[in-house]
Amino acid sequence: MPTPTNGKTALVTGGAGFIGSHVVDRLVALGYRVAVLDNLSTGRTQNLHPAAALHVADVNDPSIPEIFQQVKPNLVFHLAAQISVSASVREPIADGQTNVLGMLRVLEAVKACGVEKIIYSSTGGALYGEPQTHPCSEEHPIAPLSPYGLSKYLAELYILLYYRLHGLDYTILRYGNVYGPRQDPHGEAGVVAIFTQAMLEGRGVKIFGDGFQERDFVYVGDVAEANIQAIGKGTGGAYNIGTGHGSTVNQVFQLLQQCTGYQEAAEYTPPRPGDVYRISLSHRKAAAELGWQPQVSLEEGLRHTVEYFRNRRG
Ligand SMILES: NC(=O)c1ccc[n+]([C@@H]2O[C@H](COP(=O)([O-])OP(=O)(O)OC[C@H]3O[C@@H](n4cnc5c(N)ncnc54)[C@H](O)[C@@H]3O)[C@@H](O)[C@H]2O)c1
Repeated sequence: MPTPTNGKTALVTGGAGFIGSHVVDRLVALGYRVAVLDNLSTGRTQNLHPAAALHVADVNDPSIPEIFQQVKPNLVFHLAAQISVSASVREPIADGQTNVLGMLRVLEAVKACGVEKIIYSSTGGALYGEPQTHPCSEEHPIAPLSPYGLSKYLAELYILLYYRLHGLDYTILRYGNVYGPRQDPHGEAGVVAIFTQAMLEGRGVKIFGDGFQERDFVYVGDVAEANIQAIGKGTGGAYNIGTGHGSTVNQVFQLLQQCTGYQEAAEYTPPRPGDVYRISLSHRKAAAELGWQPQVSLEEGLRHTVEYFRNRRG
């Protein structure tokens, strides 16, 4: 019997990374043929489902159009990006190179090979600046505090332009702080993975600022599901993908202490430039139009994450 996907092909840029690899898993499970385009800068082949065909390339590589012609994707999920806020403050040109110019190359390739739809992974956490309302809706003014927030938004504007100019169908997903299995614990982004790994290794844990900064922590499985829901819904829309609740970094530290048995106190260091202090994202629009709601509580998600990092160490 034919699968509901009708033999369609999905290309996932950044598919060897943390969130991308979970999107790949869901697509494979649904019966899509899946190709991944990734330069493996932070992604790992170990993350990849064996059924996914990996093309190792940078989004800025001139070979991108050829790869798209070869894969002939019906759907493109664009996740490849420079993801660190603090790295973007230090190196805004490198950030723009991947997140804006690389995105443009992808859009040009998408246009050239008749892709049906692009689903873009944007940020909710770094787009609205210091929000005036909690939780923050998609109508909130855009006021990024970092080159990362701006480059992710510029990519959104390019997609919108390609829709106006070329009729390209799209959905934009603006994530909160995504956490869960496979997140890189050695990067500069991803407080849950960084804390978990440090706690399991018995190392010191550093908290930037007073720890009362609030983030909307959303589990990676829920985020992958939002991508799946966006395949058939949400045409021409931008959607916050968050829980609607903020949790402080201190709360996350304490919950992780309970899961790992870590006894030490955290070391508090000065806040990092570019970081927002308090944010949570309303998902009312995603619930109404994508039929998406987060399913995994913070406590449950943190337990899964600690279990994953424990097994990986073992
Ligand atoms: N993790 C979060 O909390 C979060 C929040 C909001 C938005 N996002 C967005 O979600 C997407 C995925 O983020 P993630 O957390 O999985 O990060 P990640 O670093 O694990 O994934 C990014 C992937 O892109 C690849 N990549 C990076 N630069 C590339 C380039 N120039 N060419 C080709 N491949 C490249 C990396 O190797 C990696 O596999 C990004 O677009 C990010 O901006 C993430």
